[in-house]
Amino acid sequence: MHNWHVTETTFDPQTLNHKETVFTIGNGYLGTRGAFEGGYPGERASTLVHGLFDDVPLVHTELVNVPNWLDFTVFIAGERFRMDRGTVLDYRRDLDLRTGVLTRTVRWQSPAGHTLDLAFERFASLAAEHVLGIRCRVTSVDFSGMVEFRAGVSGHVDNDGLRHWEWLDQGAIEGYAYLEVRTRATHLDLCEACHLTLSGGTETVHTFQDCPWSPTLIACATLHPGETVTADKLVTIFSARDTAEPREAALHSLADATAQGYDALRVASDAAWAAEWEASNVTIEGDDEADLALRYSLFQLLIAAPRHDDRVSIAAKSLSGLGYRGHVFWDTETFVLPFFSYTRSEIARNMLLYRYHTLAGARRKAQENGCEGAMYAWESAATGDETTPRWGIAADGELVRIWCGEIELHITADVAYAVHQYWRVTGDDAFMRDYGAEIILDTARFWASRAEWRGERDRYEINDVIGPDEYHDHVDNNVYTNRMACWNLETALELLAWLRQESAEKAGDLEEQLDLTDERLAHWRDVIARLYIPHAPEGGLLLEQFEGFFALKDISLADYEPRDRSMQSLLGIEGVQEYQVLKQPDVLMLLYLLAEHYDEETITANWDYYTPRTDLTYGSSLGPAIQAALAAQQGRVEEAYRYFLLAGRTDLQDARGNTGEGIHAATLGGLWQAAVFGFGGIRLTDEGPVANPRLPAGWKRLKFRLQYRGRWYDFDL
Ligand code: BGC
Repeated sequence: MHNWHVTETTFDPQTLNHKETVFTIGNGYLGTRGAFEGGYPGERASTLVHGLFDDVPLVHTELVNVPNWLDFTVFIAGERFRMDRGTVLDYRRDLDLRTGVLTRTVRWQSPAGHTLDLAFERFASLAAEHVLGIRCRVTSVDFSGMVEFRAGVSGHVDNDGLRHWEWLDQGAIEGYAYLEVRTRATHLDLCEACHLTLSGGTETVHTFQDCPWSPTLIACATLHPGETVTADKLVTIFSARDTAEPREAALHSLADATAQGYDALRVASDAAWAAEWEASNVTIEGDDEADLALRYSLFQLLIAAPRHDDRVSIAAKSLSGLGYRGHVFWDTETFVLPFFSYTRSEIARNMLLYRYHTLAGARRKAQENGCEGAMYAWESAATGDETTPRWGIAADGELVRIWCGEIELHITADVAYAVHQYWRVTGDDAFMRDYGAEIILDTARFWASRAEWRGERDRYEINDVIGPDEYHDHVDNNVYTNRMACWNLETALELLAWLRQESAEKAGDLEEQLDLTDERLAHWRDVIARLYIPHAPEGGLLLEQFEGFFALKDISLADYEPRDRSMQSLLGIEGVQEYQVLKQPDVLMLLYLLAEHYDEETITANWDYYTPRTDLTYGSSLGPAIQAALAAQQGRVEEAYRYFLLAGRTDLQDARGNTGEGIHAATLGGLWQAAVFGFGGIRLTDEGPVANPRLPAGWKRLKFRLQYRGRWYDFDL
C-alpha cells in the first residue's frame, strides 16, 4: 500500500519549487501546485485552469495563474503560523495517490513558545470539478488561547511577475466571500468564492474583512490543551469558459457544496478516484521504486485529463507549472495519449477533439506558410494558431532564435498518427467519420503541398526542417518527418476508401470541402512513391537521420563524462550541430511508432548506431522512456530498466533540475508506454492486444488493464 503515497518527512526550503510541482493536485479542470497554505517566501504558488489563456506581447498567449484559493492562514495568539517562523518540531507531507488528497502535518512551536499540532488536508474534487476543499485541524499541546483562521481567495497572483487580471468585484454574501476578475487581453471573467466553518473549540466568532483583491473570512475559537478545532474551507471556481455568469455559478455551487459539507464532498471525490484507478492502475510487484514512479505518473496524467471539455488538451507541463506557458506540443499525442486511448478513451477523445476544434488555426498556419491543408502549431493554445515564441533566453542570458514554430513540422503527422491509433484501439468509427477523417485528410493535403519535387534528382524532398532531435535545425529530409509524412498520406488514402464505404455522404462532403480530386489523390500517390527517405550512403539497414548526418563529426559521449549538462550547453547551439549527437531519439522514435513496418534487423542496426550518440541523460526528457520501451521490445531488458528508472526519476527526484517549472508530461506517458508496450510487450493483433512480457530482474508481476474496442483485457504478467 505504501506505493500509493508520495511522502516527505523533512522540509528543505532548497527544494521548495521542486516539491510544489511534485505535490500538485487537480481534477482535470484545474491543477494546483503544492504550495503551502499560508504561503512561504520564494514560493511559486499557482492554480491553472484548462483553457484559461491570456495574451502576452511577444510570447503570444499563456495559461493564467488564477486567484489563489490556498490563501489560508492560522494565527496562534496573534502569531502567524508559517513554516519559516517559530520551530517546526515534526513535519510530514503526504500525497495520497488513491484519492488525490494532499496532507501536511506539523508539530509547531510558536515564537512565543506555544506548541500545537496542525494538520492540513486539501483536495480538488474529482466528482464536482468546480469544488475545492481545505481542512485544517489544530490541536493544542500546551496552549490555551485564541486560534484565528483567515481564509480567502487572493487575486494577488501573477505569472512570473506579469499580472493578467483586472479587478471586477468582490464582497461577501450570506457568509460567502467572492472575488471576480477578468483577464486583461482575452476578457475572460472568473469568479472564486469561499466559505469557512469551524467545529470544536469554544467562543467561536466569524467576521469578514474586505481586503482589496482578497476578500477574507475570519473565524476564531478558543482552545485548551488536548482540544482540537477544525476549520473547513470550501471554494468554488467558474470562468466565462464554463458559464455566462461565473459569479452566480460560483455562489450557487458553493451553497450546494456547503450544504453537503466537507466530509460528503470527500466521499464523493474518493469514489470518483476509485473508478479512475479501476481502469488505469498498473501494478509492478517486486520493485517499489518503479511501482511508485509509474503510479505517480498516472496520477499526474489523470489530474490533468480533461473529462468534460473537448476544447482543451494536456500541455507539456500539464497544469502543474508555468513552464511552456500551458502550450500543447507533440508530447500530448505521441507520449501521453496512448495511456488514455487504452484506458480512458472518453478522455482521449476529448483531447483529439481539441485538435479537431483547432483545425482552423492549423489551416491558417498552413496558408501563412504558403501551403495547403492543415499544418498544426508546434505549440498550440486556445485557437490552434502557432504560439511558439520566436526568441528565448539561454541559460547564459543570450537571446536565442527558436525555429520550431516555423519548421518543426512533424507535429502535423504526429496528430494524424494519434487519431488513427485512437481509432484502431477504440473502434470509434463515429469519431473517425465525423472528426478524425478530416484531420487525417487535411494534414495529408499539407504534406503533399509541402513536399517539393526535385526533377534533377527524380524525387520529392521536404527541406529546411527540425526533426525530433532539436540539436540540429534547418536540416533537409529528416527521415522521421519524411517517413511520417508518407504514413500520413498513405493513411489518408486508405481512410478515404473506408469513408466512402462507411458514409458516402460524409466522404462526398470532405471530397468537396478539401478538394480531393482524382488529380490531387494521384499526386499524393506520387509523393508516397517518390518521397526521399535517406539511408546510409552504401545502402544497408541504417537510416540517415537527415541528409548529410553521417558526414558530420562523430562523437564519443563517454569522452565528456562526467558531466552535468546537455551536450548542447557544452558544445554550444551552433557547435553541437557539427556533431552526430542527438538530443533525443529521432530515427529510433520513427522505428518505435512504425514498428510494424520495420524488421528486427533494421531496428537493431539503427539502435546500435543511434543509442550511443543520443544525449539521454541531459538531452530531452522525452528520450529515456521511449528508449526503454524500444530496448525492452528488443529484449535488452537490463538496459531498458536503466532508462525506465532514469525517466521515473525525472520529476520525483528532479533529475534534470527543472521540475520546479512543472511536471514533464511526456515522460509520464512514456513511462506507461515503456511498462505496457516495452516490458509487457503488448502488440495489437486482430484478436486484440497480446502480451509478450520481458520483465526486469526483480519484477515479480506486472499487472494492468487495457480496453480494446469496448472490451477490457486484464493482463497479469
Ligand atoms: C523537446 C521537444 C518537446 C518539448 C516540450 C523540447 O525540449 O525537444 O521534443 O516537445 O521540449 O516538452
